[in-house]
Amino acid sequence: MLALFGGSPVRARPFTPWPIFGEAEEERLLRVLRSGHWGRLDGPEVSEFESRFAAMHGAAHGIAVANGTVSLRIALLAAGIGAEDEVIVPPYTFVSTATAVIEANAIPVFADVDPATFNLDPAAVRASVTPRTRAIIPVHFAGQPADMTAIDAIARDHSLVVIEDAAHAHGAAYQGRPAGSLGRMASFSFQSSKNLTSGEGGIITTNDDGLAESCRSIQNCGRVAGGVWYEHHTVGGNYRLGEFQGAVLNCQLDRLEEQTRTRDRNGQYLASRMATLPGIKPQARGPDCTRHAYHLFMLRIDAAAFGAPRDGVLKALDAEGIPCSAGYGFSLPDQPLFRNKAFGPYLPNASRRLDYREARCPNSDLLCREQGIWLEQHLLLGSREDMDDIICAFEKVHEHGAALRTADLRVR
Ligand SMILES: Cc1ncc(COP(=O)(O)O)c(C=O)c1O
Repeated sequence: MLALFGGSPVRARPFTPWPIFGEAEEERLLRVLRSGHWGRLDGPEVSEFESRFAAMHGAAHGIAVANGTVSLRIALLAAGIGAEDEVIVPPYTFVSTATAVIEANAIPVFADVDPATFNLDPAAVRASVTPRTRAIIPVHFAGQPADMTAIDAIARDHSLVVIEDAAHAHGAAYQGRPAGSLGRMASFSFQSSKNLTSGEGGIITTNDDGLAESCRSIQNCGRVAGGVWYEHHTVGGNYRLGEFQGAVLNCQLDRLEEQTRTRDRNGQYLASRMATLPGIKPQARGPDCTRHAYHLFMLRIDAAAFGAPRDGVLKALDAEGIPCSAGYGFSLPDQPLFRNKAFGPYLPNASRRLDYREARCPNSDLLCREQGIWLEQHLLLGSREDMDDIICAFEKVHEHGAALRTADLRVR
């Protein structure tokens, strides 16, 4: 019997917790504390992290910032994206991918995702290009690099800037090249759930010296290299990361390579086993994805073929000891923010002509409303037995699907 209805659960033990830390983090944090050099302009931690992270991600420059939202905005500003320029983004992503565009006073234009990979569909991108388009932000969704060959071709044809949203993709690779080196700039997040974390934080990576200098200036109140303290050349802000976060990130970076290998190995195993279940379609892996970061293990469920509705399946899996969720509940154009064009002081003129109710993103809608299931990255840091428990729970829920179809789950 399903654990949801009183049976014994597949799993009673917790999965690998997150974050993972140890003496290395404690010692390094104490060193910063005792040094009294807590700000990035006074100490070595953030600078050291920037160089190491950039090198690991195939980039000459890394500019650490407060989070992975301002990193996107700073990248857009550095690229010269300006008032009412259009920037193509996916509808199936965290809201920041699009709000960073608004905060650059530019217009997010939604192009649907591919139903198999959950990444931007290049055909939808091409169809969304207008004479006002200036940039594309592909998200490497769940940690799998987007179809960069096709996106680059569109960008070349229309002279567009490509900025990777690599918030999920620390350590991922495309055709052997690291995420972070695949566009003109890339943006990563170090928020609590991310594969590399300091609670909050972000970084921009780039191989372009001029863009790096612009990003560095914007994150430091418009100061420039060689300038004096109260000399400001552009509208920037204090988006600097602190030394405590730099210390944690330096230690976490030491763990990233091994953790990424483990996630990729377990993710591939899970995907191969899950794909044999009726109605279950794990995120399709393209041949160009040479390393998947698996920030999420994501799959689609076809309720009719699986024999039970998604929301019932999620409740049943949770009761079996497998933490999981439906992920985003709305495609971004359906968010109240876009429906109501609640853009604050941004886009005062364009707002009048924009109507996000006209955006058509059926693949994203289906993932949000009916089919998407997420498992978080730290589950993939476990052993082969942990993965077998996940598979076993899906099999059990499939076998007992009829009970979920008839149950009134609202009252339980
Ligand atoms: C795809 C994506 N882009 C951007 C962000 C924004 O990062 P942050 O939360 O660090 O601002 C996130 C994360 O939360 C994200 O998942």
